[in-house]
Amino acid sequence: MSQPFDIVIFGGAGDLAYRKLLPALYRTVAEGKLPNGSRMIACCRNPDDVATYHEKAYAALREHLSEGEYKSDCAKQFQQHLQSFELDIGSADQRWQNMAELLDSEADRVRVYYLAIPPTIFGVCCQNLHAFKLINANSRVVVEKPLGYNAASANAINEEIARYFDESAIYRIDHYLGKETVQNLMALRFTNVIFEHLWDAKTIDHVQISISETVGLEGRAGFYNEAGALRDMVQNHLLQLLCLVAMESPHKMKASSIRAEKVKVLEALRPLRGDDVLRNTVRGQYVAGNHKGKLVPGYLEELGEASSNTETFVALRAHIDNWRWARVPFYLRTGKRMKQRCAEIVIQYKEVSHRVYDAEAGALTPNRLIIRLQPEESIQLTMMAKDLDTLDMRLQPAALNLNFSDTYKRFKSDAYKRLILDAVAANPSLFIHRDEVEHAWAWIDPIIEAWQSSDDTPHLYRAGTWGPPESDELLAEYGSAWFNAG
Ligand code: BG6
Repeated sequence: MSQPFDIVIFGGAGDLAYRKLLPALYRTVAEGKLPNGSRMIACCRNPDDVATYHEKAYAALREHLSEGEYKSDCAKQFQQHLQSFELDIGSADQRWQNMAELLDSEADRVRVYYLAIPPTIFGVCCQNLHAFKLINANSRVVVEKPLGYNAASANAINEEIARYFDESAIYRIDHYLGKETVQNLMALRFTNVIFEHLWDAKTIDHVQISISETVGLEGRAGFYNEAGALRDMVQNHLLQLLCLVAMESPHKMKASSIRAEKVKVLEALRPLRGDDVLRNTVRGQYVAGNHKGKLVPGYLEELGEASSNTETFVALRAHIDNWRWARVPFYLRTGKRMKQRCAEIVIQYKEVSHRVYDAEAGALTPNRLIIRLQPEESIQLTMMAKDLDTLDMRLQPAALNLNFSDTYKRFKSDAYKRLILDAVAANPSLFIHRDEVEHAWAWIDPIIEAWQSSDDTPHLYRAGTWGPPESDELLAEYGSAWFNAG
């Protein structure tokens, strides 16, 4: 990428900008991937933020880059690209005109408008971009989740954006798709013949997709208490991972083919309604507990409320009704304040059909393919092998390991960096099509409705654990257990 571009961050003084976008852009500078002359324009409503933006940006980089990454000469270089801009998104005033003039001074450039703002103001933002003639053939808009609160609101948001931008210029981010191991999942599946024959109901017993977090509300109480774990994590990240595990091979690694295959998976997800929801889902909410020897508060204390039915944990069993996946349960799980931060996909194979070793050789553990997205990025295949420490025929589990942090010493993965550069390069493969968002909501909505009309409340779990014990029962019913990291 050698041509300079402009990226305009609406919500420049927001949490997302400070925590994720500025560090990602810093990394593009550090890796020499930001072409000379490119501009990062951070829009802030509050004049104080505009005046102190550079100091705040330095502070954000120091706080959010990993150890050793922050280098003052690189930070200075980064700041040369950065400018703050006072703008009230909702007022169609002179400041929008100033923005138009600023961007028109480099009219031929790619322009990326990053909407790091609440979806309630996506519409007015796009409308003003249009009214002040800021949208041209080189413009793209990047929108952040949450895209809606249910199918109807997602549809309304998509309609509003579509009034001003063509679908091909709309980049809906799910940052999980920018994680390197997620892309590696596709590489693994579609370039290795061994897996194609071991990727269906004949050989796979079940699939687990789990994202556990150790953090709590992190200052997002208002948003989170309205959303809950199902909307915040399952509707987007977990269902996207499920699609990548379950989809058929696309015809080509191009956006339209990949998205079409993902939509087919979402269409084949067996709907959960009414009693099925209660049988196949478990909601949880954390109470105070210990994390790494430190007492952390419960959800209600963090929230400052006496009661709330919001789930901070959800586990569910899903089925994909198609030929490949008939009767294979997909278990999805996510939660805040869990024992460890970890995101992984576990493909659990079936047991061998006939045991040839006698009992003295030891128990047989079925093969597992463990695709870990974080904290480190790795792929592991567990198998049974002979214990070489004894002449007796003893079997023990062994693992084939591919640890990307070991293999690629300089490997510094950053999903946002990757996705921003993809949006600049007009590569939508790792972004979400409108159809995917709407299908995902159509599956999620009835679950929420069933929860709301039931008298059940979330099961309580202690912070620092793997969630409520009821979630273990979901798997135990089918003779399985969660694979917990560590
Ligand atoms: C976001 C959710 O989409 O993903 C957050 O809104 C969550 O609640 C975050 O903490 C997790 O992302 P990551 O990359 O840290 O696992």
